[in-house]
Amino acid sequence: MDPASEASRCTPEFRRNPHPVYARLRDEAPVCPLRPPHGIPTYLVTRYEDARTALTDPRLSKDMYGAMDSYRRIFGDSSVAIDDNMLNADPPKHSRLRRVVNSAFTPHRVEGLRPHIRQIAADLLDECPTREPVDLLPAYAFPLPVIVICELLGVPPADRDDVRSWSTTVAHTGFDAESKRAQQQAEENLHAYFTDLVARKGRDPGDDLLSALTATQDQDGGLTGRELVSTAFLLLFAGHKTTAYLIGNALHHLLAHPAQLRAVRERPELVERAVEEVLRFDGSVESATFRYATEDIPLGGTVIPAGALVQIALSSANRDALRFSEPDRFDVTREENLQSAHLGLGHGPHYCLGAALARLETQIALSALLDRFPRVAPAVPGAEASWLTVPFPAFRGLAELPVV
Ligand code: HEM
Repeated sequence: MDPASEASRCTPEFRRNPHPVYARLRDEAPVCPLRPPHGIPTYLVTRYEDARTALTDPRLSKDMYGAMDSYRRIFGDSSVAIDDNMLNADPPKHSRLRRVVNSAFTPHRVEGLRPHIRQIAADLLDECPTREPVDLLPAYAFPLPVIVICELLGVPPADRDDVRSWSTTVAHTGFDAESKRAQQQAEENLHAYFTDLVARKGRDPGDDLLSALTATQDQDGGLTGRELVSTAFLLLFAGHKTTAYLIGNALHHLLAHPAQLRAVRERPELVERAVEEVLRFDGSVESATFRYATEDIPLGGTVIPAGALVQIALSSANRDALRFSEPDRFDVTREENLQSAHLGLGHGPHYCLGAALARLETQIALSALLDRFPRVAPAVPGAEASWLTVPFPAFRGLAELPVV
């Protein structure tokens, strides 16, 4: 099958290991028209330099709900109420929303979470089932980031299980009618929940991010009530699965590369570089980076027509041999990542706002697990990893990670 068809059909084989297909696309059709099931003309960008260009081109809009009726018809109208946030906005609205959230989501607030994250990791490791094998995804990688975001936002502990379960359902990216119905219901639940929480934070503010954001509501350039709810939803959604899958991918690749694992054990300070290398080598956002072409745009030897969706394959850009030496080698000491050259957290105006938190959580998750269980190993040595095979390459992650 030609690589464009494989990427369009998003077969389980492609999802398990997309890299050979991406490598062929980078060589043969670096900006490639796809034929996705939703029917909207879509172009896939696979080379590093083209990806960076696309991520900063203002003619590629993020305001797809505003721009395209067809997008709304396919992805559903109910999303609009919770999608009124910076991820789906262009300047000047994007600049305003990002500035407000940035001013409350300070490095100080993130750094202040360090002892909490350590404690959360330690508690989860305490609670790990004693019967082996243990699946580290539900036991560790998934609960850790959602507890952290709930803490950051000021979601009371008693509500966290509900919030976590709705967040997981919304992130389930099926296209069938049943998945859509479940997603819609979970979105409505989250919308109602955050509307109520914002009202509570207005009446009785705490020392949390949502209270700080709510306090801007009556200020010039602050967030509207609707934007507050959407932003709470965005922070939850953007920070949950992404981080959970990254922790899983990191553990998987360290366990699958014993020399690299040994290097991190012998020099624990390498954990920071190891996280950067996982973001490059198998980051958790594969190509959930959509843009909408507001005019005809020449890129990579093709002209992307006005009205097309553009999907930027970060996973592919990060394996581009024109940018990274021996890109298919997993190397926790790789110098090239030191300047954040990889695109695992995006690039340009929409560069991940939670990057510092994502890094901190993943570093702590790895260190805490390796300290506590120095002999952790795959349950079945050499077994093939069970990568997610849902037919939509938004996230790259594992379905399970059984260890002893
Ligand atoms: C944006 C990746 C964790 C909040 C993005 C983008 C990427 C990304 C690739 C850009 C999307 C685009 O250009 O279309 C990741 C990864 C994470 C992670 C791989 C974990 C390993 C987090 C966390 C938070 C967060 C923990 C906050 C709690 C955001 C926000 C945006 C964003 C608010 C939108 C920024 C904007 O539109 O200006 N993230 N993210 N992310 N991320 Fe993250």
